[in-house]
Amino acid sequence: MSLPRLSPFLDELAAYRPSDGVHAAAGPLPLAANESPHTPLPDIAVAVAEAGGAVNRYPDPRCRALTRALARTLGVDAGRIAVGAGSVALLQTLFQAVAEPGAEVVHAWRSFELYPMLAGLAGVRSVQVPLAGETHDLAAMADRITDATRLVIVCNPNNPTGTVVPRQDLERFLARVPATCLVALDEAYAEYVRDPATADGLELAARRPNVVVLRTFSKAYGLAALRVGYLVGDPRVVALLRRACPVYAVSTAAQRAAVTALGLREELMERVDTTVAERTRIRDALLALGERVPDSQANFLWLRLDEEAAAFGDWCAGRGISVRTFPGEGVRVSVGSPRDNDVFLGTAAEWRVLRAARRFGAVTGT
Ligand SMILES: Cc1ncc(COP(=O)(O)O)c(C=O)c1O
Repeated sequence: MSLPRLSPFLDELAAYRPSDGVHAAAGPLPLAANESPHTPLPDIAVAVAEAGGAVNRYPDPRCRALTRALARTLGVDAGRIAVGAGSVALLQTLFQAVAEPGAEVVHAWRSFELYPMLAGLAGVRSVQVPLAGETHDLAAMADRITDATRLVIVCNPNNPTGTVVPRQDLERFLARVPATCLVALDEAYAEYVRDPATADGLELAARRPNVVVLRTFSKAYGLAALRVGYLVGDPRVVALLRRACPVYAVSTAAQRAAVTALGLREELMERVDTTVAERTRIRDALLALGERVPDSQANFLWLRLDEEAAAFGDWCAGRGISVRTFPGEGVRVSVGSPRDNDVFLGTAAEWRVLRAARRFGAVTGT
């Protein structure tokens, strides 16, 4: 019996796997998905538990309390904010909102794996512009914009390399994007940025109606399982995009936890500081081992390993460490708790010794 006819793109999707699917058997050290290593603060757990008492009711479809709290925190008008079930859901809304026959999206590659996937699902052609020196090549991206380009994505910091684009470069780039083309600045890791030259998307979006910023509660706020993110942009664009968002997508638990998290921002940002300090410590140690690791402004590090990437990923998996492997390119490792980071560093050091011994053996024939 034949099956119903679905998009041929769904066959290709088999190639994509969520982060820890790569080493699902890898076990106790979860350093593959760029999550916060911290368990929720008590008030957040209470907010989630309280929401449990109202699950017979639909959530607020307009996420009003959360939108107001975000407006206060960010210092922007509530009309400039759209809330969604994670920034991935908002990204999907963007793709659907720009989709029409022949539409193209321009984004860097390697970058967040979901961009080509969401493009394919929406029937939008993904135009992938190679990174230069592990970072966005904005000049090359601008060169690839045509009449067919409906969306441009700049992932800043970039996942998986952690690199950022400087404000001046991004301003120059935005000046080359036609006003009719939407630009999404994916700032899922904004709270971890410490490089003062980095562009602040909110500042850029405030002056440009075609620019929207995507942020999330999944990383710095530690609410990955609750699925809540937001978009900031021109109120006219936001009003249209809100229409395209699925209704009731953000649960009451997610909305309440996010409002509570905003109230605990100071404490949560102190946690982010510890992650940033750990990021520096791990990178320095990896550099001392001789690894190639670009400066990361996110909560993960990128090890450029080329043809050794798969073997290193397997080496980590064999020692119970789940990392994100990009065969032929590199390995992305999340910054975890200091103890987990030490285990990872010990494993990376062992790998280095083993690799040196193998190379020595190959040279001497032993
Ligand atoms: C660049 C980037 N954007 C968006 C997301 C998705 O975040 P959310 O959990 O809000 O859907 C991620 C998650 O890893 C990411 O790396």
